[in-house]
Amino acid sequence: MRGFEIDNKENAVRLQVDGQDGVVRVVYDCPAEGVNIQARVTLPSGSARQSLDNLCAAAAQPESSRDALTQARILRLSKRTTYSFRPVASLVRRATAWLFASNEITNWSYDLTARNEGHMAAAIALVTKQPLKHVRAWMAEPNADEALKAHVMSTIAALPVGRAAIADAVPRWGRRLGWYAVVRALKPKLVIETGLDKGLGAVLLCAALKRNAAEGHPGRYLGTDINPNAGYLLGGPYAPFGKIAYGDSIATLKTLTDAVDILINDSDHSADYEYNEYTTLAPLFHDGSVILGDNAHVTDKLLQFATETDRKFLFVQDVPDDHFYSGGSGIGFAFR
Ligand SMILES: C[S@@+](CC[C@H](N)C(=O)[O-])C[C@H]1O[C@@H](n2cnc3c(N)ncnc32)[C@H](O)[C@@H]1O
Repeated sequence: MRGFEIDNKENAVRLQVDGQDGVVRVVYDCPAEGVNIQARVTLPSGSARQSLDNLCAAAAQPESSRDALTQARILRLSKRTTYSFRPVASLVRRATAWLFASNEITNWSYDLTARNEGHMAAAIALVTKQPLKHVRAWMAEPNADEALKAHVMSTIAALPVGRAAIADAVPRWGRRLGWYAVVRALKPKLVIETGLDKGLGAVLLCAALKRNAAEGHPGRYLGTDINPNAGYLLGGPYAPFGKIAYGDSIATLKTLTDAVDILINDSDHSADYEYNEYTTLAPLFHDGSVILGDNAHVTDKLLQFATETDRKFLFVQDVPDDHFYSGGSGIGFAFR
């Protein structure tokens, strides 16, 4: 065999470098994550492959004839494997646990890390011009709201098997907590959400409007979705605060005439459609309107709209807590 092997018990790493056609076998034990990874990787041609070939050629020589730098690089490979494979082991552990902890097949729900929630709150304090400690208190409300959580859980539990089998009963609000806090901060008269899926955002936004109303600031929610089965979580005591218009979102938005205080764009995620939603509602936005985009990690359309309409723009990316997803979603804000 042209190559070498590193078996380092201390770092729980075994590397077998075949050196034949760029093949590297990695065995990495990570007791901290409860994961043992066994991978066979073929490096394509390129600088990594060239370096691999060089190390293999050196390893074929007696140790005494290898140059010192090459020998040092070989010796450090096992420690460096622990650096690069530790995050992989963590991802494999989270991906495997998720298979059993969740039923979802799309629109992943997850909690944000505590630090990420703090960063989200800080951005919302800037956007809404409210004290950060108030925003943090608003963001904490949904997870302390037992009635709201019980409503979501009992609604999912009552679904026919086919739908219950692809939903998670325990609500994980994720960045929707940011949407909620914006509604609590701005006390809007009209909130629009385009794209509902199960209605996790819808019921949460209506829970915010319910609290606003109890504090003397009534407002209403309008959700749009092309799927006639979407939005089923908007029920019970939250239903009086919202309505759902089924059909194409743009067609619904075109019928509106009232000022829109908050828009949450989360329907058809193509760039053109997203932009079309912003421009369709542009005449109904005012200086205090806040536009939240769920697509700002994919397109520049909210940034473009903010630039064209003399608004500011911010993007805060999600950091999911203990979930396999790291697709970079977040909240884009356009505001004055
Ligand atoms: C990512 S999900 C929305 C998630 C939701 N906002 C939440 O809080 O979980 C996207 C939704 O957009 C809907 N949708 C896709 N194209 C649409 C369109 N042209 N008009 C209205 N809704 C659309 C889909 O049916 C789907 O329910």
